[in-house]
This record gives sequence, structure tokens and C-alpha cells, in this order.
Amino acid sequence: MNSLLLDALHYKNLQRPPVWFMRQAGRYLPEYQALKKGRTLYDMFHDPKLIVDVTMQPVDILGVDAAILFSDILIVFDALGIEYEFQDKIGPVIKKPIDFAKLQKRDVKESLWFVFEGIRNLRKELKVPLIGFAGAPFTVATYLLELSKRELADTKKYMYSEPESFKLLLDKLFEVILEYVDLQVENGAQAIQIFDSWAGLLSYPEFKKYSLSYLERLVKERKHQDVPMILFCRNSSLFAQELSALKPHGISIDWGADMLKMRSLIPAPIALQGNLDPSLFHGSLSNIENEAKRLMDGMKNDPGYIFNLGHGIHPDVPVEKVKHLIQYVKSY
Ligand code: CP3
Repeated sequence: MNSLLLDALHYKNLQRPPVWFMRQAGRYLPEYQALKKGRTLYDMFHDPKLIVDVTMQPVDILGVDAAILFSDILIVFDALGIEYEFQDKIGPVIKKPIDFAKLQKRDVKESLWFVFEGIRNLRKELKVPLIGFAGAPFTVATYLLELSKRELADTKKYMYSEPESFKLLLDKLFEVILEYVDLQVENGAQAIQIFDSWAGLLSYPEFKKYSLSYLERLVKERKHQDVPMILFCRNSSLFAQELSALKPHGISIDWGADMLKMRSLIPAPIALQGNLDPSLFHGSLSNIENEAKRLMDGMKNDPGYIFNLGHGIHPDVPVEKVKHLIQYVKSY
């Protein structure tokens, strides 16, 4: 087993940094497009065989040092009876209006059996660690509340007009997400990344109340404390000190921040992951190399550094450039 990622998450990697990318499984890969032909995204996320095949693609094609489960943060809706779909060019859509007060948690093991079967089968094939993941309650809630544009206008309207119901909704999502994370680990996930992608649009008091408090509970209340957990918010750098006070194994940093400055705010043994701007893939190979080198030179000899992007790969980048960067990191 290639253990660079797990070693870095335990702050003890003395070799080159491990490399994997957020959204490494997906649309920029022609092999993904081929599997997707004639299928809906919803069907793909619900098929344990496809979960295995799509998760394996970047490992086989790119040679990354870790696999991330092919699934979506919205999959937990299955454990609350919420109906949804993914529409091309639009993204996730909730099918019916929901009465939040009536949401009932279902059996998580039964509702999401296909994910757990996928994880068990992946572990039989993989020679690199498998990262499981979940959305944080706040970010998952935005997909229930945000009906117009993605500026969180609807979410914030509900947050302030119905504060008690909003909190109850987050509590319900939290319960499902916590159990889902534990079950991923029990079925074989070797690290867990939590995505609170929209937390960066909150004010500081909102962040503490609706994002940080649940991230803290996820870090502290999960059953398997020995399995590393990585926290990611878009704009994590704004909240570096608050996130590091939770003492997760790792924090994933957006591209807006300087990694060395982040290291001065986030002490060992917390691993730091990031933070190349994914837009660099639209530029020249030499520029990609220069930026990767600058990043790696800065983090040199840091036993807890993980090479990654500041956010997910864009769907329209050439695979060759992605491969080139991975080889460059591996030969650093
Ligand atoms: O490779 C991986 O990173 C693993 C798989 C993964 C997906 N979604 C598959 C996916 C992961 C980790 C996610 C997380 C996710 N999903 C987040 C948090 C990370 C982030 O990007 O901030 C969020 C906010 C979502 C919600 C979501 N899912 C949106 C808004 C969309 C549509 C827009 C988009 O980015 O594509 C999806 C669809 C989705 N999830 C795709 C994939 C591969 C697109 C696939 C396709 O269109 O064929």
C-alpha cells in the first residue's frame, strides 16, 4: 500500500509529498464521459459497480497517490427521503418542496448500501488509500434552500427569518452525516474529507454558529478517531485559526492563501493540503511547473504536506496537463 497520504496525515511523511486532486474523478476524463453516456448522474451515484469503476479511473489513468470515492455530498438525502436529481448544466435540483419539520432520518446503512458496497469492493482493488467524504451540514442545507442563484440569498433569508427551524434542519443533517462518515470508515474508507464548500460566504458570527460548531462535532463525535479527517471550506484560509483549533488531522487550503503563511497559523501535527489554483491548467506547462515548484519548495521537509488544488479540477482541462503535473510532483 502506498502510504504517503496517510503518513502525511499523521505528520510523518519523510518522502516527497503525496498528490491527489479534488474532483479527480469526473468530466475532464474522456473515460468518464464514455461511462456516463446514456446514464444519468443520479444512476451513476447509485450503482456500486460504477462507483468502483469511476473511482478507479484517476488512479489508473493519472497515477495519483489516493483515490476519492465517486459519490456526491447530496447522497445523504437518500437517508432523509428527499428526492433529487442532477440536471445537465444546472446541477442538483430538489424534486418536490420539502416540509423540513417532517423530515425523518431513515436507516443510513440500508439507504446508502450501494456506497458501502462500493467502498468494500474498492478496498479489494486499490493499492493507494481510499478517501471517503461527506458535505458538512451547512453546505448540504444550502442545496435544500437555495432556489435562485448561488449567492446564499435564500439560505440566509431562511437562516434569519426561521432561525429555530434552520438550526433543527442542520441538526437533522448532522445526525445523518455523522453516522454516514462512521459507516464509510467501517466499510473501509481510510481517511475522510469534509466539504463545507459554501461556508466561505458566511459572516464570522454565522460561520461560528452554523459551520464551525458542526465541524467541531464531526471531528469530536465520530467513532473512529484514529482514521484521519481533513476539513475543507472554500476560503478555509479565512478561518485557519478556528479550523486548526478543532485539531483535525488535516486542513485543505484554497488557492487564495500563501501556504507558508498558513503553516505559521496552523501548527504541527495538522497536515496542510493544497493549494494550486485549478485555473493554471488552462496555461502553459512551464507555468504549471513553476507554480508547483514554488509551492513544494516552500513546503519542503514538511512531514504533513499534501499536494492538491485549492478547489476541484475544472471540467474543460486537458488530461495531459493534469498527468504532467502529477508526474512532476512525483519526481520532485
Ligand atoms: O473526484 C471527486 O472529487 C469525487 C467525487 C465528488 C463529486 N462531488 C462528484 C461529482 C465529490 C468529492 C463531490 C463533492 C461535491 N458535490 C461538493 C463539494 C466539493 C466542491 O466542489 O465544493 C459539492 C458542492 C457538490 C454538489 C454538486 N455536485 C454540484 C454543484 C454539481 C454540479 C456542478 C459540478 O460541479 O459539476 C455536482 C455534480 C457532480 N458531482 C459531478 C461529479 C463528478 C459532475 C458530473 C457530471 O456532470 O458528469
